[in-house]
Amino acid sequence: MIVCHCRAITDRDIHAAIDWMRAADKDTLITPGKVYRALGKTPDCGGCLPLFLGTMRDNPNLDIPMQLRNLRAGATQEDRACKATRKSSTI
Ligand code: FES
Repeated sequence: MIVCHCRAITDRDIHAAIDWMRAADKDTLITPGKVYRALGKTPDCGGCLPLFLGTMRDNPNLDIPMQLRNLRAGATQEDRACKATRKSSTI
């Protein structure tokens, strides 16, 4: 199925690019931009992005590496610790 009409990218192209990137580096963060680059193309109108992302999400190799998960939650916990420390030091 054609996903990107401007650049003639199919769902099979997207899955192949994701599988290739995951095989090359198990810790890489795979983004739509990286998929375009891996296919040697650049996006044009961007109208395909919702379908492009949906196709990417269907690939089981799209998992986010463990060390990059919950970074926002970790930052929030650090912020709370910093605020608690600041409050106790001002008293
Ligand atoms: S349809 Fe993909 S960039 Fe236009």
